[in-house]
Amino acid sequence: MLLEVQGINTYYGLSHILFDVSIQVDRGEVVVLLGRNGAGKTTTMRSIMGLTPPKTGKVIFDGKDVTGVAPYKVARIGIGFVPEDRRIFPDLTVRANLDVGLRKTKGKTSWTIDRIYQLFPRLKELANRRGGNLSGGEQQMLTIARTLMGSPDLILLDEPSEGLAPIIVKALGEFIDLLKREGTTVLLSEQNVKFSLKHSDRAYIVDNGHIKYQGTIEELEKDEDVKKRYLAV
Ligand SMILES: Nc1ncnc2c1ncn2[C@@H]1O[C@H](COP(=O)(O)OP(=O)(O)OP(=O)(O)O)[C@@H](O)[C@H]1O
Ligand SMILES: [Mg+2]
Repeated sequence: MLLEVQGINTYYGLSHILFDVSIQVDRGEVVVLLGRNGAGKTTTMRSIMGLTPPKTGKVIFDGKDVTGVAPYKVARIGIGFVPEDRRIFPDLTVRANLDVGLRKTKGKTSWTIDRIYQLFPRLKELANRRGGNLSGGEQQMLTIARTLMGSPDLILLDEPSEGLAPIIVKALGEFIDLLKREGTTVLLSEQNVKFSLKHSDRAYIVDNGHIKYQGTIEELEKDEDVKKRYLAV
């Protein structure tokens, strides 16, 4: 297993948010964490990154215990996080935004600016434009591209399709397929069920801070009961 989240309990102050959440992601998989608004998707990702460390339970990455390790160190160890609010630097150019993300690694996946431009030709065209002048979809691509510049072994994408036009969501999906082919492991959080089922290998459903379901996409697609109860489809 590349990532093992083992029974974590996470709090914001006194509010208990995650209850014994366990998630496993194998190398090369695309795994989706599905759940409604406020279910605990972002908190799970923040717990993995050490932004909101769990009070109990463990986060094991590539055999190392990273529970409570500082976020910048978790990033250095090889987990890239693309938060739901696309935090680009609006006053820097697209190229400068990408350079900020650069991290030299000895790992398997090493990204260069040329490879990024191959994958995102649009970002090459926009290289000298201010980040703040990009459209929402372009900013999402820039945030993902910048995280890839850190050559993560695992990338966490928090609701990447949110607020994007259908044609951009389609491009994003194709991009996730491509990441998988390139050997990057992906943990995705989504409310967009159709999109998730199309681009993932396995799914977890989180509801009220509890994992209520886990299975392959094939199994989930057949489970009308679970889909109706938790996914409103
Ligand atoms: N900083 C915070 N302080 C207190 N409670 C919080 C904080 N952030 C989130 N919560 C609460 O934690 C719960 C889980 O929130 P979380 O953001 O993880 O959900 P989510 O599944 O990512 O939802 P969304 O789809 O809206 O992004 C919610 O009840 C939310 O109100
Ligand atoms: Mg969220």
